[in-house]
Amino acid sequence: MKTKIVLLGPPGSGKGTQGEMLSQELGFVRLSTGDMLREAARNGAPLGLKAKEYMDRGALVPNDLIINLMKEKIKSLGEGTGVIFDGFPRTVEQANALGEQVNIDLALNLDVEDSELLNRLTKRRSCPKCNAVYHLDYNPPKKKNVCDKCGSELYHRDDDKEETVLNRLKVYRENTKPLIEYYEGKGTLKTVIGVGSIDEIYGEVKKTVL
Ligand code: AP5
Repeated sequence: MKTKIVLLGPPGSGKGTQGEMLSQELGFVRLSTGDMLREAARNGAPLGLKAKEYMDRGALVPNDLIINLMKEKIKSLGEGTGVIFDGFPRTVEQANALGEQVNIDLALNLDVEDSELLNRLTKRRSCPKCNAVYHLDYNPPKKKNVCDKCGSELYHRDDDKEETVLNRLKVYRENTKPLIEYYEGKGTLKTVIGVGSIDEIYGEVKKTVL
């Protein structure tokens, strides 16, 4: 079984959704840089406030901030821990830094076209407490605007507004998409078409891991 997994894919491709399902079933740790930065911003931590300036306009947070943050997180993990990296790396510089610390055995790329991504993100609702995600049409919460898992009020992320989503897609194409070739070159890339029901896609995702 693969135990050091990078999730690649554009914003809204389902990295968080699939990564969370995998981590629940396999007992892996999911490290989501987006969730970490949002939490730091909510707590008023200097890193979070600095990161928010970039996140709100859909830009990438500078490499040095992210690389330092992840170095500490990775150091704190036990040797045999299964890890899912969600949203990291996002640049070749970050991928090189990760490669110095961890041997990645699977880079799983979720492939979804832009029109579907826009629909998913503009109708996504997120939980500020447990980071669960919902979709108003495809995956609605049982009670309107309330998280099924922890009962918190759901919110619409600032960077999920259409104009910001379009910028995030541009930033993805310019900075992160080259990582598909990067991991292909290392022989660890697998691509799963990320369109279909969440459970169907999960079935395909699991086959690449086991
Ligand atoms: P981050 O939070 O990582 O955002 P992202 O990569 O843009 O990814 P998303 O969380 O938007 O989408 P996802 O692929 O996880 O999809 P999800 O499962 O939620 O990063 C945010 C920002 O932080 C960045 O823009 C940047 O500024 C900064 N940042 C983070 N990491 C960084 C780094 N390493 N370097 C620099 N900056 C960094 O699904 C989306 C929606 O679709 C949900 O509503 C879901 O319910 C729905 N859905 C999921 N699957 C399906 C399906 N099969 N069918 C229908 N709907 C579906």
